[in-house]
Amino acid sequence: MKLLESKTGLNGTLVVPADKSISHRSIMFGAISHGKTIVHNFLRAEDCLSTVAVFKALGVTIKDDGTDIIIDGKGFDHLKAAKKPLDAGNSGTTMRLVLGILAGQSFSAKIAGDASLNRRPMERVMGPLRMMGGKLQGEMGSEFPPIEVQGSPLVAITYEMPIASAQVKSAILFAALQAEGSTTIIEKEKSRNHTEEMIKQFGGSISIEGKEITVPGGQKLIGQEVTVPGDISSAAFYLVAASLLPNSALELKHVGINPTRTGILDVLQEMGANIRQTALDAQNQAADLLIKSAPLKAVEIGGEIIPRLIDELPIIALAATQATGTTIIRDAQELKVKETNRIDATAQELNKLGANIETTEDGLIIHGPTALHGGDVDSHGDHRIGMMLQIAALLTKESVDLNNPEAINISYPSFFNDLSALL
Ligand code: S3P
Repeated sequence: MKLLESKTGLNGTLVVPADKSISHRSIMFGAISHGKTIVHNFLRAEDCLSTVAVFKALGVTIKDDGTDIIIDGKGFDHLKAAKKPLDAGNSGTTMRLVLGILAGQSFSAKIAGDASLNRRPMERVMGPLRMMGGKLQGEMGSEFPPIEVQGSPLVAITYEMPIASAQVKSAILFAALQAEGSTTIIEKEKSRNHTEEMIKQFGGSISIEGKEITVPGGQKLIGQEVTVPGDISSAAFYLVAASLLPNSALELKHVGINPTRTGILDVLQEMGANIRQTALDAQNQAADLLIKSAPLKAVEIGGEIIPRLIDELPIIALAATQATGTTIIRDAQELKVKETNRIDATAQELNKLGANIETTEDGLIIHGPTALHGGDVDSHGDHRIGMMLQIAALLTKESVDLNNPEAINISYPSFFNDLSALL
């Protein structure tokens, strides 16, 4: 597919799509709570629709009235065995969080994904769930999906996480809600906290002190009304595009600014970007973002900020190709086990367009600024690599062709339409 080109920069106003992480969790919390949950501004993209399909297969009534999603929750105890293996599609969040829910059930289940998800590591979730009494195993005894779960009674644990992962933390939290006793999780670094926030929102009890999270077991949650803010991970593509393209002035409406997700704002600010926040909606942790073009300089990124911008690193890498100086990204080895190996894919595809990027064991070294030129690139079946390459194409004089553009439907089906309206 021939990618869009830019002539005058990015101008106008855009409502970015709803947050993917919160949309997944709104379905899960609705399903395990008692009573009705209404979700406003749900993200109807492939990943979140996989979560809806999984819970429908587990016997939960979920309706889409065209505006809202309505979930008729009956609690953990009313989930039912599915007739067929559950299909998480491309979604790591669906598979890992659902494993935490299935582990404590009274029935058995099997959950599989697409070719990419079936290559992603699951021991990080199965290990702690087994410590709680969960019975889970991967294909032929491996750690890879399809995963078979034999539901069983769970007991609380204290678990020090070896990696920073909101998916692993959330799987343990869902299991902890069903376990006997109080579970404590000690995070390696603070990762996105939507699950903790939603336990509170759905009337549950949880205590958080720094990186230590404690959740009592045997909890009964109550259905709620949820308004999903815009996804900062989708906004990220426009933040970078408008910063890099001359003559840009862009307004992004109602973007989620939960501090566990705003590493990209910190990094772009340090690089010299011109981004302002207005119209704060404190209740939904959202704000409007105003972005104007600005010259960027190189930056070093590593340590505790990494989980706060993990999904934004490919687009940050593109920003760094246009920044003055050498940008170093370290402590980001988790990128190797995303939808594709994002360290390799980012370097390989941007270097095809003239970038100067080296890969390291845990990140990237990006020498800037480099002019980008046209060429043929590939999304590697990864939505965020695909969108990053479209933004790169706005910076070239010659045309850029993208293979496997349909991967973008995973998180942002209207991406090309939205972008072309601003060009
Ligand atoms: C997510 C957590 C992150 C992120 C993923 C969504 C979530 O993964 O990369 O896109 O919704 O919990 P890890 O927690 O495994 O790093």
